[in-house]
Amino acid sequence: MSATSVKAMVCNAWGGPDSLVLADLPLPALGPKDVRIKVHAAGLNFPDTLMIAGKYQVKPAFPFAPGMECAGVIDAVGDKVTELAPGDRVMATTGNGAFGEMVNCPAASVYKIPDAMPYEIAAGFPITYGTTWHALVDRGRMKKGEVLLVHGAAGGVGLNAVELGHELGATVIGTVGSDEKAAIVKQYGAAHVINYSKESIKDRVKELTGGNGADVIYDAVGGDAFDQSLRCIAWDGRLLVVGFASGRIPEAPANLALIKGCSIVGVFWGAFAARDPQKNRANFAALLALYEQGKLKPHVSATFPLGQVPQAMQALLSRKTTGKVVITVP
Ligand SMILES: NC(=O)c1ccc[n+]([C@@H]2O[C@H](COP(=O)([O-])OP(=O)(O)OC[C@H]3O[C@@H](n4cnc5c(N)ncnc54)[C@H](OP(=O)(O)O)[C@@H]3O)[C@@H](O)[C@H]2O)c1
Repeated sequence: MSATSVKAMVCNAWGGPDSLVLADLPLPALGPKDVRIKVHAAGLNFPDTLMIAGKYQVKPAFPFAPGMECAGVIDAVGDKVTELAPGDRVMATTGNGAFGEMVNCPAASVYKIPDAMPYEIAAGFPITYGTTWHALVDRGRMKKGEVLLVHGAAGGVGLNAVELGHELGATVIGTVGSDEKAAIVKQYGAAHVINYSKESIKDRVKELTGGNGADVIYDAVGGDAFDQSLRCIAWDGRLLVVGFASGRIPEAPANLALIKGCSIVGVFWGAFAARDPQKNRANFAALLALYEQGKLKPHVSATFPLGQVPQAMQALLSRKTTGKVVITVP
């Protein structure tokens, strides 16, 4: 396959959203197990803002386009790819490069989408739903009837955790930073919402659970939310460490884990998907089945064209968006 050049939102040095520029970016030749996707839409994730700042686990070589997930049409496939063909409608996790007209990625991280699934919905589906299923089911061993506490419940991964938790039979308590976000969290299935900018998470969770605490805690916020979680977790509870959107990586006093008989459980979906691709595909089959049954309704609160990725990132960082933010590519 020949190399080509595409219009993309390019990162030339570590920095904030305003350091990105719309420019031509060479696309490498296709590897034998890779596919090239013509991008119709791409999902924005909090980690994109970390990656361009040089604060993410993965630091690509410059110049690169950020963007970890997208939806579009297969444009070309490598010699060894048998399951996908040009013209297939797909969603994919790309590592980076999704904020461009075309992106190459391994066929192993591409999933065909239902005919009726719009690209703007599919674009923001894989990372947050993939992470959340893996967190609640594989890592959290969440059971019907348990109490699930979700921090940052109106955000990308958070709203998926509320929705999936409710669908899987948990009683969901969501936490948010402002009253305006409470309505959407309730709409997606939370029985209770706590505004952690003015209420104590610990006191409210104890009150709502008759002193028992939450069985599973989905924490993508870290900082104070994590500290309080260890003080309102139930016996044999599972505290899922998903992320640190608050900006502070917390430290856990080990005596609390002993006293509560609880587990602090790490969740790293990208690494899991690479280590156990078959299990990950089974998770996606379950998620897409729920979507096709109308049981998952992915929420996109804002869309921005490719040239406005910086504005999209600013909107995400200002904590004004809910659910997913999606980039559309003409
Ligand atoms: N472990 C994994 O495999 C994995 C996969 C995907 C994402 N993540 C992580 O999950 C976290 C959330 O990602 P996302 O894409 O869902 O982000 P998002 O849509 O921006 O949601 C983050 C939520 O965190 C809350 N928050 C609290 N303090 C904040 C602060 N200082 N700045 C920004 N937000 C703050 C916000 O809710 P309020 O305003 O209501 O407080 C916001 O809704 C990130 O840390 C990300 O790296 C982890």
